[in-house]
Amino acid sequence: RARIAVLISGTGSNMAALLYASRLSDAPFEIVLVASNDPSAPGLALAAAEGIATFALAHKGLPRAEHEAQMEAAILAADADYIALAGYMRVITAETVSHWSGRMLNIHPSLLPKYTGLDTHARAIAAGDSHGGVSVHLVTEELDAGEVLGQIAVAIQPGDTADTLARRVLFAEHQLYPRVLADYVSRGNNPEHLLARVRELALALPETH
Ligand code: GAR
Repeated sequence: RARIAVLISGTGSNMAALLYASRLSDAPFEIVLVASNDPSAPGLALAAAEGIATFALAHKGLPRAEHEAQMEAAILAADADYIALAGYMRVITAETVSHWSGRMLNIHPSLLPKYTGLDTHARAIAAGDSHGGVSVHLVTEELDAGEVLGQIAVAIQPGDTADTLARRVLFAEHQLYPRVLADYVSRGNNPEHLLARVRELALALPETH
């Protein structure tokens, strides 16, 4: 089973969705670490109660690169294959992103490419959109811009506020993330995907004459 480190900053409801999905008998992944930049994040206590290793390091007062290096060291010590960002409210530096290219996923509460960054639900409502939603995407250097792996649209109702919409989108998030992560890590075992990857790499090789 693929080994997943989950990074959180708060409640950790998406982390919990991943964790309980990982306990289904056919789950292709397991959670090996839950790490947070906030030692008081409720999700850490939930993970610990479920017997999952946790790591917490407050970012305040530490240079960004130093904080991130220590987080990454904990992730490497846990021997994680993939990182799943789940409500992790820190931007990851290009340096760290490059170490995990194709192996770091994020969940973002909008229908990307719409509304990268913050206040996604308020912006969707203000724009008069018919739907908000959620995306799971690969993390690249540019914020919320990596390949989208899956999305669920959620209808905006008359009278919705950012809060009421966020609450409904969260139900969709909890369905989407475990499914997309399972599909993504399973691709590695899929012969067709491996073949496509080999072709891609062969094409990327410099020509030698
Ligand atoms: C989720 O809605 C997630 O999509 C969002 O934070 C919330 C975390 O909730 N993430 C972002 O806004 C990332 N920029 P959770 O802690 O209960 O999973």
